[in-house]
Amino acid sequence: MPTNPVLESQLTLASTRENERKQWWKPVTSTEKFLSLFATAAVCVVIALAISLAAVLANSTNSPQFIDADVAKEEALISELPSPRSARFHQMKGREIQIDNADNEVCKTPGCTLAAAELLMNVDESVDPCDDFYKFACGNFEKRTTIPDDRSAVTTFSILSDKLLVQLRQILQEKPSDNEPKPFTLVKNLYKSCMNKNLIEERGLEPMKAIIKELGGWPVLEGDSWDESSFVWYESVYQYRKVGYSVDYFIDFSVTTDLKNSTWRVIDLDQPGLGMPGREYLLKGLEDKVVQAYLNYQIGLATLLGADPQRAKEELTDSVEFEIKLANITMPREERRNASKLYNPMTIRELSEMIPQVPWLDYMNKILEPLHVLTEDERIIVDVPNFFKQLVVLLEQTPARTLANYHLWRATAATVSYMPETARSLQLKYSTVLTGTTERRPRWEECTEGASSSLANAMGSLYVRKFFQEDAKAAAVEMVNDIKETFFEILDTIDWMDEETRLRAKKKAETITTHIAYPEELMQNQKLIDLYKGLELSSDEYLDNALNLTRFGTNYAFGKLREPVNKTDWISHGRPAIVNAFYSSIENSIQFPAGILQGAFFGKNRPTYLNYGAIGWVIGHEITHGFDDQGRTFGPDGNLQDWWEPSTKDNYLERAQCMIQQYGNFSFPELNMNVNGKNTQGENIADNGGIKEAYRAYERWSRRQNPDSNGWDIEKSLPGFSKYNTKQLFWIGAANVWCSKSRPESLKLRILTGAHSPAPFRVRGPFANLPEFSNDFNCPLGSPMNPEKKCAVW
Ligand SMILES: *[C@@H]1O[C@H](CO)[C@@H](O)[C@H](O)[C@H]1NC(C)=O
Ligand SMILES: *[C@@H]1O[C@H](CO)[C@@H](O)[C@H](O)[C@H]1NC(C)=O
Ligand SMILES: *[C@@H]1O[C@H](CO)[C@@H](O)[C@H](O)[C@H]1NC(C)=O
Ligand SMILES: *[C@@H]1O[C@H](CO)[C@@H](O)[C@H](O)[C@H]1NC(C)=O
Ligand SMILES: *[C@@H]1O[C@H](CO)[C@@H](O)[C@H](O)[C@H]1NC(C)=O
Ligand SMILES: *[C@@H]1O[C@H](CO)[C@@H](O)[C@H](O)[C@H]1NC(C)=O
Ligand SMILES: [Zn+2]
Repeated sequence: MPTNPVLESQLTLASTRENERKQWWKPVTSTEKFLSLFATAAVCVVIALAISLAAVLANSTNSPQFIDADVAKEEALISELPSPRSARFHQMKGREIQIDNADNEVCKTPGCTLAAAELLMNVDESVDPCDDFYKFACGNFEKRTTIPDDRSAVTTFSILSDKLLVQLRQILQEKPSDNEPKPFTLVKNLYKSCMNKNLIEERGLEPMKAIIKELGGWPVLEGDSWDESSFVWYESVYQYRKVGYSVDYFIDFSVTTDLKNSTWRVIDLDQPGLGMPGREYLLKGLEDKVVQAYLNYQIGLATLLGADPQRAKEELTDSVEFEIKLANITMPREERRNASKLYNPMTIRELSEMIPQVPWLDYMNKILEPLHVLTEDERIIVDVPNFFKQLVVLLEQTPARTLANYHLWRATAATVSYMPETARSLQLKYSTVLTGTTERRPRWEECTEGASSSLANAMGSLYVRKFFQEDAKAAAVEMVNDIKETFFEILDTIDWMDEETRLRAKKKAETITTHIAYPEELMQNQKLIDLYKGLELSSDEYLDNALNLTRFGTNYAFGKLREPVNKTDWISHGRPAIVNAFYSSIENSIQFPAGILQGAFFGKNRPTYLNYGAIGWVIGHEITHGFDDQGRTFGPDGNLQDWWEPSTKDNYLERAQCMIQQYGNFSFPELNMNVNGKNTQGENIADNGGIKEAYRAYERWSRRQNPDSNGWDIEKSLPGFSKYNTKQLFWIGAANVWCSKSRPESLKLRILTGAHSPAPFRVRGPFANLPEFSNDFNCPLGSPMNPEKKCAVW
């Protein structure tokens, strides 16, 4: 299976993957996925569960409402305040905040009023900004938000994603025009086949039963007639490949970019993803409530398909016990952040000598058939050699029946989303325990999301043509330049770097390539037609469509093995219809799709400080990823290489350690859980660097407008916020990017398996570390938002 980052991040989110190293594209939020056409297509069936859970985990239907009455009230409030020109002091829980009267005029344009209304609905002024700025900026968001039954969280991101989803639905429901290019028909067909619930119900469980048979039969259904002696796990894998299922349930097989020769590709063998969102869940053991729900889900499905309940219970318990052992021999994600550690090149011959129990050459050739024929001399990368050594022992110790039950379970789970409600309701029951959601998302949302992520280039092309506001592009280009410049300045002033490492860092920063909004090729129908050549999808065969997509996508990804990597390829940067942003260390590139250049992140009719605080922070975040604990181990050309002088590296590690401990002490007492400082360090480093860069970049922008500016007197304050100056509004606007409300289950999921800190700490951590913040809000030294011990990497 192709392990595209894209797909990895989706799977990390909702189903299982732990291959964080392969997430070259780092989503700003973990609920977002970067899904390029083929990665998704390749696992369309496999991610069936993922999609439905992702649905649960992502997005919401709550959009911000601008209530006229509230805005009017604010206008009244403003007129009651003293004239903006007179100096005044604002009492905030006994602390004095001096307002600089010079920058305190209020902007009353419609754009400013709308932006202000949105912020006003979220701010909770009963909280002292120096105690907990997240609660101050987002307290009312949490209070006024009710998480819909079909969602596990509502966030600023999900609100925007929901609006986007409505737009995509509109596109998908349009009648195909005469001689419409085929890719557009394909994506509409996929949507239609998914929406055809009646047909799916009518066909019942038969298609699923037939597929399970074709995959070799699920022992728990077959009873005593299942022939144990004929089962060999790797032959079962070959059959999966033929039918259009994932080949990654025992061993993760992919054609990936060679990290040390990144214009070429290489075969990569890794530990597999699991049927639960991470090893962390399974290792709690069979008594754990969520593991119990997982087992019951399996028993329920098997029984529904005709298994004897008692047999189902016994055999599937064995299967889960096997999966727990499998989880136990995987390398924990804390240790997988080090790409060098996972880079273990060897020839197939060497692998065969190390682990003779598997016919490796034959295994890989069967999976690559008919695209390539390998020899023993093929150089491959084995991510975790120790996992493979333990895997073959575990496979030998486990009865064939249990292995087959596990393998077929994974395929069955991947098929459920395409099935009638009887099966899907069992899936929902499990996801209720896992994420807290009690309803499925509306069908149209699931189908829109699925069509859009599976055929992202076709969908994106339609989206841009119909909805994208082109002027956002130029503004984003300007901001990227400003923020890059400030990053150079920061590099110049860092006192813990030797000059050689500094020069190399600057070279890397200069070399970053930028992809904004969408590639021009998306407007060329012929390019799209060529991309999807050979893919057939019908408007009524949902499951067959998924299998066609998987085969097509797998062949595409595996077919690339001998082709050089084009790092600016339009195809892998052609997913504009998404609310997210990315950094890729193997491309050394940043990407800001059309979908994020709007809403709370960017607006051309509101003060620029809000844009720098929001999308500017996102841009800084992505640039800084190039220099986080993982990004820093890649050079300007995208190759994994050590360019750090030893003493500077030590200084870096010390600073990163400070953040690991700082975030490790953030906790949710009600869950009795702390943030995982190690797993989130990359994102935290990016958040901290990003906001600092955005703040300084705004000052840079101001001075460009007026060289006499102090950086903050160019623009006015906002209605309803006249007691705050523009600096303070920068922070309020920035914090609002992370307003969110989550169910405890999904918070737990995120803390256990996520690379991003939970929202409150994405505000509290970076702001508390920046002296500029404490200055702007006059926070006393020692208050929670102005701790004596601050951490800073960049
Ligand atoms: C990179 O890979 C290509 C194709 O396999 C090979 O020809 C080339 O020698 C490799 N370069 C390095 C530096 O290993
Ligand atoms: C995981 O493996 C270790 C070492 O082999 C063992 O001590 C431990 O009991 C195992 N844990 C589980 C949950 O199987
Ligand atoms: C990463 O792994 C390599 C190889 O195992 C090791 O030499 C290096 O010290 C590790 N780096 C860090 C920062 O732990
Ligand atoms: C799947 O692809 C095959 C071969 O391209 C095609 O014959 C078949 O109609 C496709 N299935 C669907 C449901 O479109
Ligand atoms: C790489 O992709 C870009 C954008 O799609 C294209 O313009 C360029 O020609 C490609 N380069 C090569 C070497 O194919
Ligand atoms: C919390 O902070 C203390 C002091 O800095 C540190 O020793 C400890 O390791 C931190 N806890 C975690 C879980 O990181
Ligand atoms: Zn990130």
